[in-house]
Amino acid sequence: MTTWHFYEPAAGHGLKHDPLNAIVAPRPIGWISTLSVDGVRNLAPYSFFNLFNYAPPLIGFSSVGWKDSVANVAATGAFVWNLATRPLAEAMNASSAGVDAATDEFALAGIAAAPSRLVAPPRVADSPVAFECRLTQLIRLQTKEGRALDQWLVIGEAVGIHIDAGMLEDGVYQTARARPISRGGGPADYFETREDALFRMHRPDQA
Ligand SMILES: Cc1cc2nc3c(=O)[nH]c(=O)nc-3n(C[C@H](O)[C@H](O)[C@H](O)COP(=O)(O)O)c2cc1C
Repeated sequence: MTTWHFYEPAAGHGLKHDPLNAIVAPRPIGWISTLSVDGVRNLAPYSFFNLFNYAPPLIGFSSVGWKDSVANVAATGAFVWNLATRPLAEAMNASSAGVDAATDEFALAGIAAAPSRLVAPPRVADSPVAFECRLTQLIRLQTKEGRALDQWLVIGEAVGIHIDAGMLEDGVYQTARARPISRGGGPADYFETREDALFRMHRPDQA
């Protein structure tokens, strides 16, 4: 018989480590580039991140606190999402350093930038996919009682999408070929998406 560890998060998890981000894992990484109003290039990873709609494509990331990325999107209305891959993992990690808003985080992390076509923030040149996005909603998260939190959900519409054509096979995007990385739990766990973990299962109404 299964023994369950049940807890009410408001009263604490009662474990050595908070299991939340190890359970909802692995999470894709929102590697977000923005520009400040003064034109300073900003780059940071957000694993509270996902795709929320097909048409138009809507993606979002959530910031625990009013961080530079959110401030820049709020002020300029634009951001770029860059795919974080295994070859770029260390650079992605370096770009998470908590530095002041005047620091160019592309330069800090030694990351080459490429110009975007439709929005002002640059993209990560070596990232095989980038979505140029315009802000659609900036939502302040709240508790069930309606108490406002200092957590901010940024949702943007992808208005321009760059794909390294080498990631396409007969017009089909090959997810594992880019070696995307995702965030696991604890202070340091990541997963790489590999072809050998792939399995296929069609929906019952689409078999
Ligand atoms: C893989 C990874 C995922 C992260 N995910 C988040 C997240 O979802 N939300 C958040 O607020 N911070 C997250 N962080 C921390 C931010 O990247 C960090 O606070 C960064 O300095 C924010 O940069 P900014 O102030 O330039 O926006 C993450 C860090 C790493 C390494």
